Amino acid sequence: MEKTYKYNPKKEFEERIKKILPDEKDMEEFWKFCHTEPINSIRCNTLKISPEKLKEKISKYCWKLKQPFKEYPEIFIIEKETDLKPGEIGKTIEHILGYYYVQDISSMMPPIALSPQKDDIILDLCASPGSKTTQMAAMMKNKGTIIANDLTVNRTMILNANLEKCGVTNTIVTRKDAVRFCQIWNKKIKKKFDKILLDVPCSGEGTLRKSPHTMEIWNLNFIKSLSQQQKKICSAAIPLLKKDGVLVYSTCTLSIEENEEVVDFMLKNFNLEIEDFFLPIKTREGISNWEGKKFNEKIKFCKRIYPHDNDSDGFFLAKMRKK
Ligand SMILES: C[S@@+](CC[C@H](N)C(=O)[O-])C[C@H]1O[C@@H](n2cnc3c(N)ncnc32)[C@H](O)[C@@H]1O
Repeated sequence: MEKTYKYNPKKEFEERIKKILPDEKDMEEFWKFCHTEPINSIRCNTLKISPEKLKEKISKYCWKLKQPFKEYPEIFIIEKETDLKPGEIGKTIEHILGYYYVQDISSMMPPIALSPQKDDIILDLCASPGSKTTQMAAMMKNKGTIIANDLTVNRTMILNANLEKCGVTNTIVTRKDAVRFCQIWNKKIKKKFDKILLDVPCSGEGTLRKSPHTMEIWNLNFIKSLSQQQKKICSAAIPLLKKDGVLVYSTCTLSIEENEEVVDFMLKNFNLEIEDFFLPIKTREGISNWEGKKFNEKIKFCKRIYPHDNDSDGFFLAKMRKK
């Protein structure tokens, strides 16, 4: 394929995408989408305002809005024909007041998969900037409890600011390395969680439209080291989950090492059952064979979200239950 884009992917990365998407047309679509402007989407913060009221308030901006999912009226897409000025969505008074959160639709899927309920105790182990924490708090109507953790002071400050802006009151923020957090919790507090969200640090291959430079700095060693870190985070978190509790593992990347390989590792080493689940956007099955490795046959229950399937970021999700 002839490429005349501003950012061209590294050959090695291109070869891998070819293996992930073997159909040539499909792969071409993928690359085409990676070089288009990302679509803007917002999530109404139902802790502060209803979707109808929000729609009314922001009608003055003349954004062409669409609510693509009947069962999730809080999710809005700002259609591409809208003439948006740079940064416009983040500068409105409604955004400053926390009436809506700017979030890609694919990033809204992990909370939908986890389905937090009002009386749940939830661990969000890598939580900053809080897109999913604020979404879960809204789904829980500020009831129950979320423990939202992140690694650094800067990241937890951003998380705190977003929680405050969105009027979240059911969340406790902690600052610890994820593995260390789990060790301390297991030793000192011991309480088990009903649900755990592991939205782990990853290589971000799914967000090429927002940061196309990633294509040029892509590096297999980095991916392999992230995969090791992800396995360590999962191994530390699983003992904190209740029997019959639910764990959602998610990344915004496409590499098998950071996705199916990590899920396969969890299924092999822990008492977890992978479950099939429904999401309101187009997904594809998890990949069961990769470079000579054959994963658990239920890996197909993992969900791959490709940018060209939904005009969204790329994402990966798996839902597991403790036996
Ligand atoms: C994919 S982002 C999380 C996004 C977040 N869940 C959201 O929806 O807004 C991964 C997060 O992991 C954090 N992180 C990186 N290394 C970590 C570690 N060792 N322990 C805990 N958090 C870590 C990063 O600071 C980053 O905020």
